[in-house]
Amino acid sequence: MSQIGLFFGTDSGTTRLVAKKIAKQIKARLGDGVAAKPVNVNRARADDLLVYRALILGTPTYGNGLLPGRDNGTEEAAWLEFLPELAGKDFTGTRIALYGLGDQETYPKHFCDAMMALYRFFGEAGAELVGGIDAGGFEVTRSKAIVDGRFIGLALDQHLQHTLTDARIDTWLDEVLPLLVEVCDEPAPTA
Ligand SMILES: Cc1cc2nc3c(=O)[nH]c(=O)nc-3n(C[C@H](O)[C@H](O)[C@H](O)COP(=O)(O)O)c2cc1C
Repeated sequence: MSQIGLFFGTDSGTTRLVAKKIAKQIKARLGDGVAAKPVNVNRARADDLLVYRALILGTPTYGNGLLPGRDNGTEEAAWLEFLPELAGKDFTGTRIALYGLGDQETYPKHFCDAMMALYRFFGEAGAELVGGIDAGGFEVTRSKAIVDGRFIGLALDQHLQHTLTDARIDTWLDEVLPLLVEVCDEPAPTA
């Protein structure tokens, strides 16, 4: 089985595109089979995530700071519909890195807010969250996903700063990939 699970929610496909970029960069660094094929959460089941010790999870932000999902204004089902399926599941021993898509120009007060909803959800479910980045370099007034001057995951903006995306992924993977691979190599926790 692949070592790192890659799951995303999306409405218009940008977060899927970025998942593919991340998977491609992991393949270029570590070869085939280290990152799983990215999966849209609207096609996933809880067990699909639970088999992994390491996960990369991506989300855009919709509806002024909310997770994507039909009640928050998206056409497609996404994290909003999927998270209830994970209610009560234990992610202890799982290491998770988040990435988020947003638009800092139109939503400078809610840029990438939805990453924080995933951070809280999976943190409360026992997961260890890794992979924050410095918030410098973004024109953001306020974001729920910034703690002490850092985004709690990889923030990306395909509207205003799409030319920076590949380099941002690259720098982020330098830090996060060893942490994800490390947890895959550890012995399974005993119950
Ligand atoms: C109705 C609507 C609301 C949005 N709200 C936010 C927001 O609150 N914060 C933000 O950073 N981006 C917001 N965005 C921008 C999207 O997050 C951004 O376009 C993202 O790349 C979409 O990802 P997707 O193509 O994977 O669905 C919004 C976009 C739309 C269309």
